[in-house]
Amino acid sequence: MQLKQALASAVDRLQAAEVGSPRMNAEVLLMFVLGANRAYLYAHPERELSTEEAARYDEVLAQRATGMPSQYITGHQEFWGLDFVVSAAVLIPRPETEHLVETVLELAREVPRPKIVDVGTGSGCIALALAHELPSAELYAVDVSKDALEIARANAARLQLDGKVQFVRSNVLDTLAGVHDFDFVVSNPPYVGFDEADKVQKSVREFEPREAVFAGEQGLDVIGPLVEQAHAALKPGGGLVVEIGYSMRDAVVDLLDPTIWYDARVVPDLQGIPRVVAARRV
Ligand SMILES: C[S@@+](CC[C@H](N)C(=O)[O-])C[C@H]1O[C@@H](n2cnc3c(N)ncnc32)[C@H](O)[C@@H]1O
Repeated sequence: MQLKQALASAVDRLQAAEVGSPRMNAEVLLMFVLGANRAYLYAHPERELSTEEAARYDEVLAQRATGMPSQYITGHQEFWGLDFVVSAAVLIPRPETEHLVETVLELAREVPRPKIVDVGTGSGCIALALAHELPSAELYAVDVSKDALEIARANAARLQLDGKVQFVRSNVLDTLAGVHDFDFVVSNPPYVGFDEADKVQKSVREFEPREAVFAGEQGLDVIGPLVEQAHAALKPGGGLVVEIGYSMRDAVVDLLDPTIWYDARVVPDLQGIPRVVAARRV
């Protein structure tokens, strides 16, 4: 079968399976199978697929047709211009989370050697983007999931940032309870409530790790302890920077007792949706 025929029938198959952006997905998966870029697909429409290539393409299309995100099939996602490996043990890094990195960088550039901890590091995307931008920072990254930490460590090694971040298994900041004086506690925690499960995309519900997405009935089961423990871990004037769900602004701001937190602010994303909450410890 020729490449252009394989692509056309893949688009039909993904469309029939109600996969969004079927052409883009068909191309991404063919690029993955052939180890080629998009320009190659368009430069060689008549190239014959080998039997093995056709069989492999059929296999990955079948996976995609179940709703499995293409990133879990190809094993990669770009974040902050860096290539991250991902597996089903970690949340796929989202472009929105780059707002959190931007917010931290704005604040951290005022600090000569910032000491930062990323809580719920998953693939390590936040900690490693910060390590990439702030070579003098002292960085810690924690996650409750052992499998997620393995992926984060692998990403650190691939990005040649492995000496820059200490990875620690911990429930929120429990294991780092003896480490104080952080300049920043940053986090994209799980924040979806069980009562909102039906508002979450089916592919997220079915394929992304449950503990990376959901946090109790109201979605506050990790953010609550995080705000409390961050206060103890931060130095006076240190900043807490947290990504939030679209409807959580008031609930999270309410957690920031104004007698012990100041400069609380909410940073919207490009669509004006509240995306990040930042505050400083008194
Ligand atoms: C929304 S994901 C964020 C992953 C990554 N930081 C990102 O932005 O793509 C939340 C992460 O928090 C971790 N997590 C969930 N509960 C936790 C807890 N109690 N303590 C530490 N990490 C936790 C999950 O394993 C998951 O990796």
